[in-house]
Amino acid sequence: MAILVTGGAGYIGSHLCLELLNAGYEVVVVDNNSTSSSDALKRVQEITRKSVTVYTVDLGKKEDLLDVFSNHTISSVIHLAGYKSVSESSSIPLTYYANNIMSTLILCEVMQMFNVKSLVFSSSATVYAPTEKNEPISESHPLGAINPYGHTKQVIEEILRYLFYSDPSWSICMLRYFNPVGAHDSGQIGENPKGIPNNLVPYITNVAAGLLPALSIYGNDYPTRDGTGIRDYIHVVDLAQGHISALKKVETTTGINAYNLGTGKGYSVLEMVRSFQNVSGREIPYIIAPRRKGDIAVSFADVTKAKEELGWEAKRGIDAMCMDAWRWQRANPSNSALV
Ligand code: WQD
Repeated sequence: MAILVTGGAGYIGSHLCLELLNAGYEVVVVDNNSTSSSDALKRVQEITRKSVTVYTVDLGKKEDLLDVFSNHTISSVIHLAGYKSVSESSSIPLTYYANNIMSTLILCEVMQMFNVKSLVFSSSATVYAPTEKNEPISESHPLGAINPYGHTKQVIEEILRYLFYSDPSWSICMLRYFNPVGAHDSGQIGENPKGIPNNLVPYITNVAAGLLPALSIYGNDYPTRDGTGIRDYIHVVDLAQGHISALKKVETTTGINAYNLGTGKGYSVLEMVRSFQNVSGREIPYIIAPRRKGDIAVSFADVTKAKEELGWEAKRGIDAMCMDAWRWQRANPSNSALV
């Protein structure tokens, strides 16, 4: 029985496949390599000395997905594939709605045809309505995405809820990621955004590597302890292990649940810069720039539910996140911002 991972060649997907292989699962990946490359899974197989079956197909092509389910006995699906840039989604919203929602509908249709009804879905903390309160966000916080990317995740969560209401034999876990960062400690796989990074940590590692001159800190006038934005950064290996805890749940129970995957701690931009400088020994020059459109002040997770119901909690702190991100950057100088 195999686990199908959609988007398994990506940053989070490759870390998830590594953990699944190490946990003894048979892994099948479908990925169209639109935002990833086959290198990552080659390295995962070298690190684990185990093999992954990879189909370079687009989830939008139902006939390709039918072939995958015909060729393998799939027990559960972990669905990561989708476009994921908050800023890009605001400029091409229809592309995001078409890609993220249609691919999920096709996947669920094919799963239903093969009577595969255990699903772990990659959702996001961006489904939550913004808050100015400096309090942890629980799964019962009101939903209210403020960008098309987050809204695709919110819509898909609603679709999955109605799918479950229509057929309670489904078992679905929807994982709301906070801010995934860092890399496997081998330095062989990690985040490799094409072009100039949008996200904070890969931008910092590019500055540390001399690929970019300085970090722009988007706003220091937020209502936070030092004026800069606060986020819940979670090590990508902890995130991957959270998926395995959710997989065990969907393989043993029916129902539908959402879980925050975060550390429960919020760190400001300046605190992340200081942590990175301390662990890397590299100075990170920065300027204070205007706030970025769509940014919220504070976002960090209440992680009680995942701990109580999945038996999972994040173990790695921001120093490990910064050290592992830096090791990946140094081991892969081609992670150039100017590709
Ligand atoms: C973090 C903080 C910025 C870059 C991400 C993903 C999104 C979702 C949630 C999964 C903010 C500041 C950033 C820079 C900066 N993940 N910043 N200078 O916006 O929280 O969203 O996590 O679904 O997909 O995009 O993450 O890393 O872009 O920003 O000052 O050059 O760093 O203002 O306070 P964000 P981020």
